[in-house]
Amino acid sequence: MLEEELVKDLFMHDLLSHLNEVSHEKYRTYLERKLKEKSYDRNNIFINNRNYMAILEYNSPASELLSNKTYYIFKASCPDSKKCLELLKIIKESLDPGSLVIFRISTENYPLISALTHTGAILTETQIIYLLKRDKMNLEYVMNMREKYLDRAFHPGLNDLETIKQLIRISFKNYPNRFSVDPFLKRNITVELYEKWAESVIKKSMDGGAFALVVREEKGKPCAGAFEEIKEDRDFEEIFNLRTGEFLLYFSHPECRGKNYYTMITSYGLKIFYDLGIDYVITETHIDNRYPQYVWVKQGFRPVYSRYTFNLHL
Ligand SMILES: CC(C)(COP(=O)(O)OP(=O)(O)OC[C@H]1O[C@@H](n2cnc3c(N)ncnc32)[C@H](O)[C@@H]1OP(=O)(O)O)[C@@H](O)C(=O)NCCC(=O)NCCS
Repeated sequence: MLEEELVKDLFMHDLLSHLNEVSHEKYRTYLERKLKEKSYDRNNIFINNRNYMAILEYNSPASELLSNKTYYIFKASCPDSKKCLELLKIIKESLDPGSLVIFRISTENYPLISALTHTGAILTETQIIYLLKRDKMNLEYVMNMREKYLDRAFHPGLNDLETIKQLIRISFKNYPNRFSVDPFLKRNITVELYEKWAESVIKKSMDGGAFALVVREEKGKPCAGAFEEIKEDRDFEEIFNLRTGEFLLYFSHPECRGKNYYTMITSYGLKIFYDLGIDYVITETHIDNRYPQYVWVKQGFRPVYSRYTFNLHL
């Protein structure tokens, strides 16, 4: 049974509470269903008592690449920093030494932030999350950008996987992010993680749940790539009657930068969502990644939420 206050606290800290279509009551029902669903997953660890609650979601790609168990915590609630310290102690006791726990929590979750900073967790990034509602989309801008480059865009299949991986390797070379700033990580796994991601998105795009896009320069060389997906969440659709699209990953070859490829490819991606009747689109990046944010703002996105990523090494 989920404790009333803890669930209320989670609700306060969640991105979706920023959607004004979402009533508190409906959101609560949704959250309770999700928490139950995640706690039933055998790989996850669910810590829940009167004083605190957390779900540790096991991440297998990161665990494989780092050769240590890696868990993500998106949902955690503890009423004050003392209780949060207790929660962190329980987390440590529940996991194997050498495990990595990555917290992605609201910047408003003061008690947990305070406990994490006292426990030696490393702040690796501040994420900023943008939302675009259908009626706020700058459709004219999106259409102009899309039409301008339409003949150079294509949807890659599995045969193009190696090309996409190469583009990822070069686009994210020296990319500063949460994996590059943690001195305790054995290596930077960004590129390998994104390559795995590319494979799964391209496979998923075969049945229409996700979209992979590439745009070429005039001479034919692939210049930019993009992944996006429709969030598959039956509970969410059923309770709120809303469909969500998400920009997952966008990148352009360093030689093609500053030539509007990114702007074009995101506009192409937005039009796909628009035509499918998606109600709103979510996207995120770390706060100092300026160029994508500049493009999103022109397309109609607004920042609605921020969260910290902390790495806790055990
Ligand atoms: C972020 C990234 C995708 C931008 O790609 P891009 O193709 O250069 O983007 P665009 O040409 O559409 O530029 C977008 C805006 O930023 C500006 N810009 C881009 N690179 C710039 C640079 N190096 N210096 C100054 N301005 C720059 C552009 O001028 C444009 O503004 P404008 O519309 O006023 O002209 C690319 O730098 C990249 O792949 N970075 C690494 C991966 C990444 O950060 N991905 C996004 C998060 S998943």
